[in-house]
Amino acid sequence: MIYLIGGARPNFMKIAALTRAFEQDNLEYEIIHTGQHYDYNMDRIFFEEFGLKEPIVHLGIGSGTHGEQTGKMIIELEKYCIDNPPDLMFVVGDVNSTLVGSLVASKLHIPIAHQEAGMRSGDRKMPEEINRIVTDSISDYLFPISPQDEKNLLKEGISQSKIFLVGDCMIDNLLYYVKQKQKQKEEYILVEIHRPANVDNKESLEEILKSLKILSDRIKVIFPLHPRTKKMIEKFNLSSYLETIDVRSPMGYFEFIKIMSNSKVVLTDSDGIQQETSVLNIFCVSIRDTTNIEYTVKFGTNTLMSSNHIEITKYIWKFLDYKKDVKNNFPEQYKRLNDGKSSERISKIIEQILKG
Ligand code: UD1
Repeated sequence: MIYLIGGARPNFMKIAALTRAFEQDNLEYEIIHTGQHYDYNMDRIFFEEFGLKEPIVHLGIGSGTHGEQTGKMIIELEKYCIDNPPDLMFVVGDVNSTLVGSLVASKLHIPIAHQEAGMRSGDRKMPEEINRIVTDSISDYLFPISPQDEKNLLKEGISQSKIFLVGDCMIDNLLYYVKQKQKQKEEYILVEIHRPANVDNKESLEEILKSLKILSDRIKVIFPLHPRTKKMIEKFNLSSYLETIDVRSPMGYFEFIKIMSNSKVVLTDSDGIQQETSVLNIFCVSIRDTTNIEYTVKFGTNTLMSSNHIEITKYIWKFLDYKKDVKNNFPEQYKRLNDGKSSERISKIIEQILKG
């Protein structure tokens, strides 16, 4: 029996791809939901869209400080796993639920598999970086998405025998659902910003909102607001910047990938979107000092930028003036790793592992 731990929005796309592959190979699995995200549009909608199996248990933890949230999750997940131990704990990505799944399993001597292992930004102020380092250091089977991530693991002394370079489940899901680019009547920029470094700080949030306001003079700006971003805009009294912006609620997957795949530019601080836009050949500007997905900058369509509004607007303006399109330049190996079959590769490896 495999337990797949999910809790936050970006987990569910990966779990969807993995469960499709597990089902094909008749691997027995259950989903455990930590409750890290709980709004309909951050959670339930993905179960409905992907037709995911209902979680065998929902820990219902909700929000809190990192200590509160992870602490409560550990207590509840451990209780469940003591009574119902799986053969393998499978964790994805780098959110707090990922860390909890791996910590609980390791203390109970349950083998751990980690999808998206080895991603590093080098910025230990990001909670996700700590989640990744800890999870990788105690995982038994590590599934990096890129050669860079595999190198990172080796550099940290993780044995090659535990590492399986398979590619990216999130891209599997994207390729499974995305439709052909449509010719859009109206051009627009899509914005998805939610990192604490950008939105919990008034100065940087205001800079980003200023850039959106300026850009909206020229091109439509669609901005689905993550709950954290919404909360901080209200807290810092910055709502007036949004008057000319097409503000939306967080979107379900189908709506989001449709809007993303037809957008002229995407402005984001999300990890996943840097990858998805690179695969889809969409111009992406990431408001980040560092990226943990270097290949999106090197071979993809992604550029890193500070939150300075002049820099952002100038750069996007220039693109709109002079460049019509962008295209990724993935070397063969990266094309193979983004071929939509990484979950199938993982499933076959897990099948062997479980057979012993
Ligand atoms: C988490 C992940 C981040 C990921 C993001 C995607 C960690 C450390 N961070 O960040 O890596 O990119 O999810 O969304 O795990 N809230 C709601 N409704 C919800 C969920 C959250 O209103 O359904 C609000 C709460 O006020 C909460 C805040 O959003 O305090 C932040 O939620 P949290 O899960 O702590 O972190 P995210 O910023 O979503």
